[in-house]
Amino acid sequence: MRVFVTGASGFIGRHLVAALAETHQVFAAVRRRPIEVPSGVTWIEHDFAAATPPTGWPTAIDAVVHLAQSRHYRAFPEQASDIYSVGLDATMRLLDWARAAGARQFVLASTGGLYGAGPRPFRESDPVAIGPGPLSFYFTVKRSSEMLAEQFASLFPVAILRIFFAYGHGQAPSMLMARLIESVRTGDPVRLHGKDGIRINPVHVSDAVRVIARCLGTGASGVFNVAGPEIVSLRETAMRIGAALDRAPCFVTEPGAGADLIADIDRLRRELVPPTVALREGLRTACGAPPSVRVP
Ligand SMILES: NC(=O)c1ccc[n+]([C@@H]2O[C@H](COP(=O)([O-])OP(=O)(O)OC[C@H]3O[C@@H](n4cnc5c(N)ncnc54)[C@H](OP(=O)(O)O)[C@@H]3O)[C@@H](O)[C@H]2O)c1
Repeated sequence: MRVFVTGASGFIGRHLVAALAETHQVFAAVRRRPIEVPSGVTWIEHDFAAATPPTGWPTAIDAVVHLAQSRHYRAFPEQASDIYSVGLDATMRLLDWARAAGARQFVLASTGGLYGAGPRPFRESDPVAIGPGPLSFYFTVKRSSEMLAEQFASLFPVAILRIFFAYGHGQAPSMLMARLIESVRTGDPVRLHGKDGIRINPVHVSDAVRVIARCLGTGASGVFNVAGPEIVSLRETAMRIGAALDRAPCFVTEPGAGADLIADIDRLRRELVPPTVALREGLRTACGAPPSVRVP
């Protein structure tokens, strides 16, 4: 299968491209070609924030996986234009190109942040709740790109993956799980709202990669939550990181309970592929050596 992946130099993209390259013909869209690359991948340099038309894109493609997102997605309003260009404008251009190039599958990376936060696991049928806050613009762009993509579902299957807290080797230090690991490693206190902090079900990057790979083979369409198999508090997460690093975490508790960010993954389990990486094992690889992911 010929698969076009955007954001191929990003956290999930790097793992995905390495895994797909073994069994698929991969076209990896990047702003700059990475130095260490898996063999057998066609690298295409393209900046979605620039007005330049694409060059060197294949004329025919079987599947498109759109992972690219602005590196400045938290920086509203200063980087609003970049967030829009990479999140929404690029989605529109990719959908249009996918149609012209004969794609039979489109996979759009979205975020579990669209549900807001609350005490029970969020289902795909729950309403989107974008409240005020620093990520509000980014969430609006993600939701808008979902809505654009849904319009194309009459032309080819469109799988919208709402990802909840991916983690693993090589994650950017600003992301929640990477920050927790770094705090425990350096002895900085982990801040908890309430006694144990919020509850989450983070997904190991290798499980996220398996979900995307599965979408390519099944004609999956619709919204899918992508999260891990275990629901844990931040205190428990930090304790398990401590076990992986052989360091006891320290905590600071702040008043007021935070709201949980938990995905219901029944649909993922039923229709795509269940996440299999237990947190203890996932944290061991996230804190140490890189894993290799094999996809069928
Ligand atoms: N990781 C998570 O926990 C999580 C959670 C929810 C949703 N998601 C979604 O999953 C997707 C992948 O996440 P990630 O963590 O792998 O993201 P990431 O590590 O931040 O990677 C972002 C990718 O987008 C590329 N990019 C940024 N600006 C670009 C531009 N102007 N033109 C072309 N490419 C551009 C980056 O390229 P450069 O290397 O050149 O900067 C990089 O390859 C994203 O859409 C994200 O919203 C992830």
